[in-house]
Amino acid sequence: MFPHPSYPNDHRVVELVGTTQTSSQSSRFDIGGPGPWDSSVPKAKTPWWRDAVCYEIYIRSFADADGDGVGDMAGIERRLPYLADLGVDAIWITPFYPSPQKDHGYDVADYCDVETRFGTLADFDAMLARAHDLGIRVIIDVVPNHTSSEHPWFADALAAGPDSPERERFVFRDGKGVEGNEPPNNWLSIFGGAAWTREYDADARPAQWYLHMFDSTQPDLNWHNPAVGDDFEAILRFWLDRGVDGFRIDVAHGLFVPDDLADTLTGDETTIFHQPEVHEVYRRWRRVLEEYDGDRMAVAEAWTDSPETTASYIRPDELHQAFNFHWLLAEWSAEAFRGVVTRTLEAVGLVGGSATWVLSNHDVVRHVTRYGGGDLGRARGRAALLTMLALPGSSYLFQGEELGLEQVDVAPEHRQDPAYFRGGAVGRDGCRVPLPWGGSRPPYDFGPGAGQPWLPQPSDWTAQSVSAQSADPDSMLSFYQRALAARGEVAHGLDDSVHLLDSAPGTFAFRRGDDLVCVVNCGPEPAALPDEAGDVILASSPLVEPRALPPDTAAWFRARTPR
Ligand code: GLC
Repeated sequence: MFPHPSYPNDHRVVELVGTTQTSSQSSRFDIGGPGPWDSSVPKAKTPWWRDAVCYEIYIRSFADADGDGVGDMAGIERRLPYLADLGVDAIWITPFYPSPQKDHGYDVADYCDVETRFGTLADFDAMLARAHDLGIRVIIDVVPNHTSSEHPWFADALAAGPDSPERERFVFRDGKGVEGNEPPNNWLSIFGGAAWTREYDADARPAQWYLHMFDSTQPDLNWHNPAVGDDFEAILRFWLDRGVDGFRIDVAHGLFVPDDLADTLTGDETTIFHQPEVHEVYRRWRRVLEEYDGDRMAVAEAWTDSPETTASYIRPDELHQAFNFHWLLAEWSAEAFRGVVTRTLEAVGLVGGSATWVLSNHDVVRHVTRYGGGDLGRARGRAALLTMLALPGSSYLFQGEELGLEQVDVAPEHRQDPAYFRGGAVGRDGCRVPLPWGGSRPPYDFGPGAGQPWLPQPSDWTAQSVSAQSADPDSMLSFYQRALAARGEVAHGLDDSVHLLDSAPGTFAFRRGDDLVCVVNCGPEPAALPDEAGDVILASSPLVEPRALPPDTAAWFRARTPR
């Protein structure tokens, strides 16, 4: 797991949610009621994103059309039919803008173009049109917290020198101590080390310092400067005019830092991010999005210490969604799942919003590995998927989870992640290894090239490939297809109410709407089903006894006692 507080570890979250309800207390617990979970909300009026299944494409590692070992826009376009067959409603594509790729695209040198190694704007338009033809919406990443140090804004700021309007776009300060040799404060980069780097003046003398909460090649923008807000409105409009359906907002909680730049107790971002001013930015963005037709939306990447703080980003005049990282961070336990679900639904209910669910992304250890790896991890991964798909709200999948991919142990000499070089974290390269599409050796049809792609693939991925799994009805891929199809048939038609059910120790059970019961068994023994569970709709592993759920399994049932 990425170790920084921004990506907190499981235990903090489990402790936090463990206070809400324990398995022994699990009485009938009604989260329904007025607002968005009221069954009277007509489904026809539900905006598409509210219950969409969205698939994250990490562009470098999805599909490579030109054979350079790096994924690209044409590769995405070519593989869209696969995603349509999988049954996703939308894709989110990680940054594909011109970039020196120091943080693999999260260092943007031009917000309104396409990086040559990924293609051209015309390739983007073609991909977008094809996605829309297939009924797939497209969300793109916007990176407003920082630019690349190769962005012309930063080059101009360096050239213009201290106290210039160009420098006001970023956070430049004189250093402390003798000759300003020490950084302006004690803040730490999320990737490790100081959050400040010193620049040199025209005579090559050490000069001012600039703030970067991530890599030194990712200078933070100064959102207190109104010009920055105006630029980002123009950037959003550029892509909205081209037809994108939404934005994933990178480090959405980080845009503002305290104006006084005072030292903080720990120096880490927990007390630096989440400044109140950031909400005004999202109110403005909401107004921009609403000028366009087609329910355009935005989803926040905001790492928070509570579901309530996450919900503060989705108040009615702000963003539409925020990733529910508390679900991703919950350990494999009925108590943790129950706690996160309860608190999430309560928190989003308070602001009249809707939930999201996510198990993996390009910044964290893949969930099959987190859940124990191998067959155990895959069984739990299936069960966790089925559980989240039964809940109201939308689900985000990360490419490769439908293949049951595990975290790869990338050898030190192949590691690419700036977080590794700055802070020694090894978690992120291992989830970003290019996908295996077919064949029996690297690059497994990732692209037409012969050798290893940009991050080497393991030699034992033959059975994991899309083509191998497509032929096998018991594969993870076939299960994902069945689960997404079942969600389309069953869960989409239900109202958003969730009622927790009394269930056996080690299990978490709830009824969604009138018709669906979902039970997940996180305990070590087969567990008796709750009375409300009728006929099986879909199970993540076969039910060996008719009224018992095996360990590490979830299942959907028709509800026996409709309200
Ligand atoms: C977000 C991205 C991550 C990136 C960081 C800096 O957390 O998901 O990949 O390194 O922001 O942009």
